[in-house]
Amino acid sequence: MDAHLSQWLNLALRWSHVITGVAWIGTSFYFNWLNGRLAPPPAERAEPGVAGELWSVHGGGFYRVVKYTVAPAALPSTLHWFKWEAYATWLSGFVLLVLIYYLDAAAYLVDTQVSTLSPRAAIAVGVGALVGSWLVYDALCRSRLGQAPLALAGVLFVLGVALAWGLTQLFAPRAAYLHVGAAIGTIMAANVLMVIIPAQQEMVAALAQGRLPDATRGRQAALRSLHNNYFTLPVLFIMVSSHYPATYGHRLNWLILAGLAVVGVATRHWFNLRNQGRHNMWLLPGAAVALVALALITAPHGDGAPSGPAGKPAVSFADVRVIVARRCAPCHSAAPTVAGLAAAPLGIALDTPEEIRARAERILAVAVVTHTMPLGNVTAMTDQERALLGNWIRSGATLR
Ligand code: HEC
Repeated sequence: MDAHLSQWLNLALRWSHVITGVAWIGTSFYFNWLNGRLAPPPAERAEPGVAGELWSVHGGGFYRVVKYTVAPAALPSTLHWFKWEAYATWLSGFVLLVLIYYLDAAAYLVDTQVSTLSPRAAIAVGVGALVGSWLVYDALCRSRLGQAPLALAGVLFVLGVALAWGLTQLFAPRAAYLHVGAAIGTIMAANVLMVIIPAQQEMVAALAQGRLPDATRGRQAALRSLHNNYFTLPVLFIMVSSHYPATYGHRLNWLILAGLAVVGVATRHWFNLRNQGRHNMWLLPGAAVALVALALITAPHGDGAPSGPAGKPAVSFADVRVIVARRCAPCHSAAPTVAGLAAAPLGIALDTPEEIRARAERILAVAVVTHTMPLGNVTAMTDQERALLGNWIRSGATLR
């Protein structure tokens, strides 16, 4: 695809994905908050079947929301549903995944430093991970384990970590992270489409026919809603994770992701408790400590702290320049030679000595400490070359 067209398609899709995602998660957070804050109405407004009411003020108006235990005596002519936010988020996300990771699988999905999987096989694994995750998750929720929510949550967490481990053994690290997020996002959207909305339709149908709604469907929908609620924060991190090479670029990146998921779930749990008027003292500080611990665990270490003038032999800039020209500049150049690239990625050109020196710290981070560059190692950079770059930068990055 034409690089310019692909960039604008990417822009439109990503923008849509963020907009619809904000709308979906926003309504989800709002209703969650609402449910926790409803209080029984005072005697003069008491109405049979009312579970609670809530007053709020927003954007220049007062609002009074009433929740019914099952359903009101009669349904109003207009009933608002919340589903298109979820479907549109999934659709825009999936098309974006195809555009970036599948149409350009050789650069973004596979990585010869990780596995020898062909781009085609990797795409099959990726799609399989999304579909398979939903099938396994759905079966577990409907099994007897579904009646023990805590045990189910434990099993789901272990399976999620196993998925992260498996994908990080097969895909480029960023693609592995993104597929874990896409698998959870698929489960969340399918929960809405296949379980939550049908249960609500059943409630409406039961009301119209004057019977009680099927309680098991209601219970499944409640379980799926609860899961979606806890999934949101980990998925939000994964959506922006490609900015953080310290996470996906780490040797134990799947474990780092598991740690970040725990931080997200704990934070969500704190908010859920707070919405019910319960203030937990240790969850948020615990999450903060865990974040600091993850930052320490992923800190660059060992193999070559600055060696100092007396340390490793000086590296000549001439060698560095050859390496950068061969391994980086096919993409990072004012005139990239790699097919499909119209301009230097993120505007980072590494053509001149000054440009290379100015980026030395980032070059160290992406090509030496983590191996996230060259992208997919398409230019086949060797470990010796990485070590040489590292020595040059750590001994001062001079242009001699
Ligand atoms: C196949 C093309 C390609 C090659 C080869 C390549 N890069 Fe990149 N690089 C990219 C793309 C694409 C991005 C933007 C990634 C994104 O969108 O986040 C990028 C981003 C970067 C960034 C910014 C990301 C950050 O975390 O700071 C740096 C720095 C970088 N590359 C350095 C290098 C170095 C150094 C090399 C050579 C050792 C290299 N790249 C080789 C394609 C390439």
